[in-house]
Amino acid sequence: MRTEPRTAPNSMKCPVAPEDVDLFSPGAQEHWYEAYPVLHAKSPVHRIPGEGSVPGTDGFILTKYEDILRVVRDPERFPPGLTTPPKPNPDGSMPQMNAMMESIQTLRPNEELWRAHKSELTDPWVGTGATRHHDMIKAAAKGLIDNWIDKAKVDFVGEFARLLPQIVMANVLGFPHADIPRMEKWGEAQVMAFVYGHGHRNLLTPEQAEEQNRILAGFKEYVADWVIEKRKNPKGDMISWLTQATYSPFNRKLTDMEINGIVYAMMIGGLETTQYAMAEQAQLFCEDPELYRTVRNDRSKLRGFIEEALRLRAPTQGLSTRTTTQDEEFQGVKAPAGSILHMRWAAGNRDPDEWECPHDLLLDRKGVTRHLTFSQGSRSCPGSGISRQEQLIAWNLLMDRIESLEYGEGNTFAHQPGIMLGLFELHLNFRKA
Ligand code: HEM
Repeated sequence: MRTEPRTAPNSMKCPVAPEDVDLFSPGAQEHWYEAYPVLHAKSPVHRIPGEGSVPGTDGFILTKYEDILRVVRDPERFPPGLTTPPKPNPDGSMPQMNAMMESIQTLRPNEELWRAHKSELTDPWVGTGATRHHDMIKAAAKGLIDNWIDKAKVDFVGEFARLLPQIVMANVLGFPHADIPRMEKWGEAQVMAFVYGHGHRNLLTPEQAEEQNRILAGFKEYVADWVIEKRKNPKGDMISWLTQATYSPFNRKLTDMEINGIVYAMMIGGLETTQYAMAEQAQLFCEDPELYRTVRNDRSKLRGFIEEALRLRAPTQGLSTRTTTQDEEFQGVKAPAGSILHMRWAAGNRDPDEWECPHDLLLDRKGVTRHLTFSQGSRSCPGSGISRQEQLIAWNLLMDRIESLEYGEGNTFAHQPGIMLGLFELHLNFRKA
């Protein structure tokens, strides 16, 4: 079975040697999975000259599982840029920060507070405690499937995978469904750098940054108004709960701005990533009808399928979010202090030194959750719990109602640029159960 994504033809050359590898230029996204074996074989620590944190330093793409794991498990030695306090502008003013960045500076500037933040504030809602949303997610998924189940075809991205995380996050946060179109626009603006940003650091041009600010104007106020309202009249949602919670490391309640920052983080992480995961899973099933039949007939295999799909088709392919504080060496390649490390989760997930038959989807693979799709260690994705819930509940319901599925007409298999494996649309034909 083919586990590399189908891609759209484009003008970029297929990489066959390390010099050809470019993971970040427009069009590169259609060749990522051709680049990974080249990098593994010939340049597992791939230098990007001049792209480090200060002039004269470099960026390095890490593709080996062991290297990435070593980095993410040691946040003191390889600090994520996120917690580094911003430098003042040349005129002495401070750079503009969004609410999430502001709240990271105050709520969790160090490792200990980062852990407390996760376990106390986000885990109960989107992490280990995400099972509380089971019925809500099921109802949301059912409502969406009802819209198209009698049509025998669907744009799985536009009519299901994109909408489910939006409804789920609106419910979790306690936003009215009527505001989902606005949430979608804001969510897209938040991830703009990850889609349209330049190079491995996802840099926006001043014009793009201005455009981002223009679209996001109003978001902070929108959340601020809800925080005030929910502090006064708490309901059963996450924002209401955050207004009432006492955060134990500080032994006080959270400020409105701190809550605003947490909401920003939930939106930036919680919408598109899960969409991409489900779209990739649907394609894997189209590639192998027998796989769909097997999992449909034995749902105990569904968890294994989801983890393998996450491993093989990581929605977040890579992030340049770690730096070196001292001179380091990976696979014999020197990465001096001040380098930026691009963790290529998707490549680590197919590293032949870590995974037996790395390109095969094995429903009973041992220790499959050790993949890097959500990263690992204390800084790993705080929303992995709710994302897994959504995928599990969605596929259980889809399998109840769909006997078989295949690619429909009109698929281009074109992906958005950036660092996410984001298919624009996915037309499916299916037989209703
Ligand atoms: C398939 C879905 C998802 C994938 C593949 C994914 C992947 C990731 C990865 C790779 C990181 C970086 C971790 C690191 O640097 O070590 C991350 C961070 C993050 N994710 Fe996710 N994520 C997903 C879903 C979610 C959801 C549903 C939420 C929220 C409800 C979320 C919220 C966040 C946040 C807030 C961060 C930043 C770190 C922090 O603030 O603690 N993610 N995610």
